[in-house]
Amino acid sequence: MITIEKKAVGAFASRFGMEPQGVAFAPGRVNLIGDHVDYNDGIVLPMPLESGTAIAWDRSPSGFEVFAADLARDDRFETTAVDKPRQAGWRSYVRGMAALWPAPLPPLRMAIAGDLPRGMGLSSSASLCIAIGRAFLATTGDRMDPRELARLAQRVEHEFAGVKCGIMDQMVVAAGERDHAMLLDCRDLSYRNIEVPTDWWIDVVDSGMQRGLVDGAYNARRQECEEAAQQLGIANLRDAKPEDLDRLEPGSMERKRARHVVGEIARTRDAARLLEAADLPAFGAALNASHASLRDDFEVSRPRVDRLVDKLQREIGSQGGARMTGGGFGGAIVRVARAAAHR
Ligand code: GLA
Repeated sequence: MITIEKKAVGAFASRFGMEPQGVAFAPGRVNLIGDHVDYNDGIVLPMPLESGTAIAWDRSPSGFEVFAADLARDDRFETTAVDKPRQAGWRSYVRGMAALWPAPLPPLRMAIAGDLPRGMGLSSSASLCIAIGRAFLATTGDRMDPRELARLAQRVEHEFAGVKCGIMDQMVVAAGERDHAMLLDCRDLSYRNIEVPTDWWIDVVDSGMQRGLVDGAYNARRQECEEAAQQLGIANLRDAKPEDLDRLEPGSMERKRARHVVGEIARTRDAARLLEAADLPAFGAALNASHASLRDDFEVSRPRVDRLVDKLQREIGSQGGARMTGGGFGGAIVRVARAAAHR
């Protein structure tokens, strides 16, 4: 049992006075490249982290009883009438998964423990939802395709947390493999897990700037992409070609957003190929270009993040790269470099 699972089991025992029947786990994720393209039906290259969320569970004699060990907070609700919590937060995810679960579910006691820093853009919410789903599956003995589980968790974000996110986080958390990056086509959810060369070093650097209340800004970016697609007369920016960008007004917000999406999808395809070819210098250059595009065209970075990314890029030189990762507006930076330089 990994440490965080032990913590969940210990929290369960002290909260409910008994040993749990089982413990489920789901990781967080870091995106190597391909940001703000998943909801445009694009291509992404995320990978699961070792850190994540563990849930110790057992049947409950009456109603759901949930204990968030890290926050020392409880929630109780009936399986038959799951209401949205008044404020979006961890309860939204627990209740959302229970409300939207497609099969009959017995009431459970659950203790949740996580070792993902919150507010860093490492998908603590997708990790929580998929861990809950795994606990539900373990309880009933049912099986579910990871794509279905990912779609369900995405619906919970949309309907219970109010974030109109794409499907990248849920998919890599549900179907990713350790030490592999997932090349995922968000249009049809086809994917391939690609092994990361053992002499590459990948880590997450905290920018020291927590993501604030940015769900509104995230949803606005999604809307802006839809407006750009509409102006081009296409359903989705995935179908935009580089030459189409000339049809959008020079200097306009729509043109900048579309230029990011078109460029980022191309960079992500290239990056997957470069990963397989173990070409670290070219892979790193793609990462650096992705950061510039998110900063200048998609405008989701922050000056403090940019300064740190600059510093990291200079330290790494030609043997790798660094960029903001995830939704942006602060949060984490991903660094890829030569392992020898870090050991
Ligand atoms: C957040 C969302 C994802 C994705 C990224 C940006 O993590 O949950 O769906 O859009 O931002 O790439």
